[in-house]
Amino acid sequence: MYFDTHAHYDDAQFDSDRTALLASMPENGVSLVLNPGCDTASSETAVSLARQFDFVYAAVGFHPHEAKGMDDTAFDRIKELASEPKVKAIGEIGLDYHYDLSPRDVQKDVFARQLELARKLKLPVIIHEREACADCLDIIRGFSGDVRGVFHCYSGSWETAKTILSWGWYLSFTGVVTFKNARKSHEVIKNMPRDMLMIETDSPYLAPVPNRGKRNSSLNLPYIAETIGGLIGISKDEVAELTLENGRRFFGI
Ligand code: NI
Repeated sequence: MYFDTHAHYDDAQFDSDRTALLASMPENGVSLVLNPGCDTASSETAVSLARQFDFVYAAVGFHPHEAKGMDDTAFDRIKELASEPKVKAIGEIGLDYHYDLSPRDVQKDVFARQLELARKLKLPVIIHEREACADCLDIIRGFSGDVRGVFHCYSGSWETAKTILSWGWYLSFTGVVTFKNARKSHEVIKNMPRDMLMIETDSPYLAPVPNRGKRNSSLNLPYIAETIGGLIGISKDEVAELTLENGRRFFGI
């Protein structure tokens, strides 16, 4: 059975079939899904999906793209939602200098504020980082002793991975590992400790080969597991079990 540790079922791309698709997950080998939030509205939806489906859990927070929208009212609402029993993390949070959809100083403030909240609530964090590695690691360093985290859709170097892993933090991989140019991620997967590895789809985005370019869903997890299994010499079912166990430990489920 699979644990999709990062999927956005609140996304409008699921409006036509969300309930039926989610309801079909357990009979198709997906036993757990974690739906992160990106702003107040998506965090609210994540929590309501978690209330509706036993096997769905939520994270709440402000994505760096949406950071400019996190005023005090929004922050207070995230804090309230975080106390819901099925909210297992603060996320996704971080820095994105590729799109720069929020000013960088705002992204940094909002990121640090949410790390502080995670520390206070003793929740782990889900990190989104794109082209902002140095600043991201600098900010996390102030919290890494008492906040746990995972880098979602990890695509950085083995050098950077070693720093993240040395904090006891986890790395999570998407369908990008099935793409042709994934050599860097493959090196990380081969070298990292297996018990710090998680898998995710980032649905509706990043569908793996052979469904690249289509709407993604947790049903594509076996393609990711197959690729990872090939890299570390275990079967796709063993990758499923391993990453299910790692995900449960990480999120406390
Ligand atoms: Ni995401």
